[in-house]
Amino acid sequence: MVSFKSLITTTVISAATLAYAQDSSSPVQGYSKKGFAANWNIPASGQDVYVQIQGPTSAGWAGTGIGSGMKGALIFIIYQDGNGNVTVSPRLGKGEFEPEYESTIQFELLGGSGIQNGLMTGNIKCSNCRSWDGGSLDVSSTSQNFIWALGNQKVTSTSPSQSLNQHVQNGFYGLDLTKATGGGSQNPFASLNSTSGTSGSGAAGSSSTGSPLTKADKVLIAHGVIMGVVFVLLFPFGAALIRLLNNRIPNAFALHRGVQILGFILAIVGFGMGIWRSELSDSHYQAPHQYCGTIVIALLILQASLGQIQHNLYLKTQKRTIWSYGHIWLGRFVIVAGIVNGGVGLSLPRADAPNGAIIGYSVVAGVVSVGYLAFYFWKERKREVGVSS
Ligand code: HEM
Ligand SMILES: *[C@@H]1O[C@H](CO)[C@@H](O)[C@H](O)[C@H]1NC(C)=O
Ligand SMILES: *[C@@H]1O[C@H](CO)[C@@H](O)[C@H](O)[C@H]1NC(C)=O
Repeated sequence: MVSFKSLITTTVISAATLAYAQDSSSPVQGYSKKGFAANWNIPASGQDVYVQIQGPTSAGWAGTGIGSGMKGALIFIIYQDGNGNVTVSPRLGKGEFEPEYESTIQFELLGGSGIQNGLMTGNIKCSNCRSWDGGSLDVSSTSQNFIWALGNQKVTSTSPSQSLNQHVQNGFYGLDLTKATGGGSQNPFASLNSTSGTSGSGAAGSSSTGSPLTKADKVLIAHGVIMGVVFVLLFPFGAALIRLLNNRIPNAFALHRGVQILGFILAIVGFGMGIWRSELSDSHYQAPHQYCGTIVIALLILQASLGQIQHNLYLKTQKRTIWSYGHIWLGRFVIVAGIVNGGVGLSLPRADAPNGAIIGYSVVAGVVSVGYLAFYFWKERKREVGVSS
């Protein structure tokens, strides 16, 4: 619980702090992470869109795109041109593979672009980037989705259709575009000090790294929080309940059933949220987390059925049947599998979870597991021989 609270608190506080820190006089909104930085300006009138991309030359290429995932995104990539400047490559994402060069995008490379102190900077003005084959830019959005990525290869080319290797770092960000409108300058990045980006943050002068939570972010956080609460707290609690209360109160099974069915429904809701998020970035079934999660959900359906079946048989025979052992052991397995899969999901690069959240989750999961085992051995020792349910 601590972990998820701290995850949300950290996110909310940092978003709020950064929003506060924003320079209201500058109509440029930006994001920076791990050496990558992007700044956007959308003039209130006309069709132009300005984007500044920065990334370490060591990465080979740096790119950012308008969209929630690669599929359907309009992407700009920069790499060295071999003459101290950058080549700009506008592309359309068609899925999670190398985006295709799009020759119809009209853009201009502006002053301030170049290579300085190990940092590539591309200041780009695009005159037809508000809609494209596959998507469009909602200039009135307060949480427009963007994607970013950095490569890890040596690439120097003047060709905009240069073939590139897959990114080694990538992520999402959201920007409040209502704060990025206005200005109407010929080069909104001219006033940003892009020569001082040696710290690795690459963030340009007055723009901030503030990033409002997009709907996609919120759904992903909700997915994690719900699944964490269900598998780390609710299911183990429901399981311990029947061990503790059997032979003490008459309808212990009904209490157990109630708690576990509630957990089951929440798990299905959380599952749906995970699927929805993958749908958005066209990233279904790429990570083991997604496969294992689906198997865990399928096993939960079996688990609930086994629970009812073995209970009905128990009422007839007054004995544990093979179905009881099936339910008990599948239940223990599926809870542990769910907890482990949660940790795996939290550590996914695309989850972008702070280290504190991962550590918090591991600690809480460890404490609950050890606590359950301790409870179990304590129960076993004082168990009067006899069957249950
Ligand atoms: C899908 C959600 C469920 C999960 C995750 C789950 C999990 C578990 C676990 C782990 C145990 C063993 C506790 C232990 O000894 O460590 C257990 C026992 C039991 N469960 Fe469930 N359960 C679920 C649904 C149900 C349902 C729907 C029923 C219907 C009545 C049920 C009835 C029972 C009974 C009667 C026992 C005691 C079995 C015995 O000791 O012989 N469970 N459950
Ligand atoms: C890179 O190219 C742009 C556009 O031609 C130019 O304005 C800029 O000054 C160049 N940068 C360097 C470092 O030559
Ligand atoms: C930009 O940064 C450089 C190097 O840190 C510094 O010398 C220069 O004065 C800065 N310019 C502005 C406009 O802040």
